Amino acid sequence: MEFQNVCTWLVAIIATSASSVTVQVDTAVKRQPPGLKSPMKVWWAKELTPDFHIAGRLTERQIKYASEAGFRSILSLFMYETNDGGNFGGEYLPTTAEAWATAHMAGLQYVALIGGNDDWTSIDTIQRFHDVLPALRKPILLHCDRGYTITFVTLMHMANQTRHNSSFEPKIYSHNFYKITGAMGLDFTHDDMKEVVANVTGEPVVEKPPKHNCEPEEWRDFWLAHPISKNWYMGGQVRKCDVKILEQTGFKAIINMRLGVTHNGQPSQEPTALLNVKDEPTTYGNSTTPPRQDLKTLETNKINEHHSSDYISKKSRINYETENPLEFGDDIGYNEDAEEEVVMKTSLKYYHIPIPPNSTFTASMFSQIRDTLIQAGQLGPVMLHCSDGRRVAYFGVLAAAIHEGHDLNWALKRVQELGFEVSPDVQPDVYKMYCESFEQSHSFKNEEL
Ligand SMILES: *[C@@H]1O[C@H](CO)[C@@H](O)[C@H](O)[C@H]1NC(C)=O
Ligand SMILES: *[C@@H]1O[C@H](CO)[C@@H](O)[C@H](O)[C@H]1NC(C)=O
Ligand SMILES: *[C@@H]1O[C@H](CO)[C@@H](O)[C@H](O)[C@H]1NC(C)=O
Ligand SMILES: *[C@@H]1O[C@H](CO)[C@@H](O)[C@H](O)[C@H]1NC(C)=O
Ligand SMILES: *[C@@H]1O[C@H](CO)[C@@H](O)[C@H](O)[C@H]1NC(C)=O
Repeated sequence: MEFQNVCTWLVAIIATSASSVTVQVDTAVKRQPPGLKSPMKVWWAKELTPDFHIAGRLTERQIKYASEAGFRSILSLFMYETNDGGNFGGEYLPTTAEAWATAHMAGLQYVALIGGNDDWTSIDTIQRFHDVLPALRKPILLHCDRGYTITFVTLMHMANQTRHNSSFEPKIYSHNFYKITGAMGLDFTHDDMKEVVANVTGEPVVEKPPKHNCEPEEWRDFWLAHPISKNWYMGGQVRKCDVKILEQTGFKAIINMRLGVTHNGQPSQEPTALLNVKDEPTTYGNSTTPPRQDLKTLETNKINEHHSSDYISKKSRINYETENPLEFGDDIGYNEDAEEEVVMKTSLKYYHIPIPPNSTFTASMFSQIRDTLIQAGQLGPVMLHCSDGRRVAYFGVLAAAIHEGHDLNWALKRVQELGFEVSPDVQPDVYKMYCESFEQSHSFKNEEL
């Protein structure tokens, strides 16, 4: 009951102040939902500022996705030589020359900054970043191998601007540098890096900077995940290759909140991401429009008419994609059975908790899935996913909060840090679900005592 009062009180304050709730967040700017124009394709990009988004080493498909989502250039921190093609769970990672060619075909600028053996923590690297920046169109997708070193270099560039350029925004000082990177699950608290931070900011070395609490520390071997807290991670649609990497990284479970092939006895396949095809919410046709993956519909939904068929593959004869098996797509759309089959071949435990996209969220929905979520969270690192991260952000943050004993304010802060604002004005249904669920969890605890 007491909690109910707190919530009402908060709502009252908000109503009288005429602005939305202000939670203090540890991000450089107020983050938007990840993925620019195409969250289904680029949910893994982490926004530092509207111009700078962070990623790990990209496949050719991800480079094309970046272009389709609205990025205008890619900066790779490292150069990958001709003998340095990579591999991510069986997916080929292109060399710099190959990545450049793909980016060019996709209409993106592309630069690689330093050699693989160069010192990325050096002032010289930050200087090179500063020098190349004016030539790049924005927004920029910035990447290294796992989204770690490039975050350091980008924020150090911003810290240097903060120090030397009074009109630069957002300001990065030592204290918010550690909070921002901590909120991203990244640790730059080693002594040698602390020296560089002090050198660039002109501030004293921070003795005991805050550090993230992610488990495992090496979670970023699966760099696509967005860490929520401790062993809770979230994101959009995983690929076949990701399942292997999740297992190798030490994850214990995958929770999938997309709809299955049927839902309440009705066909319910969600759309799958397709190269050079707009993201449409519908999969099935009706009396006037054929299904989404019908050639006629695909033709009218192309993103760029002018791409050559090489954009899809050397073998393709059309300039758009019709199916995407890598992301468990079939000839209709996303096929959840196909994902389950792949996950079941690994040691990962698989949970399917179907939540319709654009549901109105309620506390009763959460109470039905709460125990399953907490049970999964007790196994160890768990990856929650849907199509673009939205559904799992709302539920994942709430589950982590209750699992770890945090309060409403923590949840509102964390969900905004992930780019999904929740307040009485923005997603009021989720806000209400949060208030009521914390209240229930509170009285539940009291009963136990
Ligand atoms: C820091 O910023 C100043 C002013 O823009 C610039 O002249 C200098 O090269 C920058 N230093 C580094 C290391 O980026
Ligand atoms: C200072 O920052 C502003 C805003 O980001 C930018 O337009 C300008 O080019 C910067 N000046 C220098 C000298 O780097
Ligand atoms: C900062 O780094 C530069 C370049 O490496 C170096 O010349 C300078 O002495 C350093 N300054 C401090 C205060 O450590
Ligand atoms: C869900 O809502 C978003 C934003 O309001 C909209 O773009 C999207 O098409 C909707 N999806 C479905 C499946 O209705
Ligand atoms: C058929 O689907 C299209 C695309 O989703 C939609 O714009 C249209 O209104 C639908 N027509 C009918 C008759 O439901």
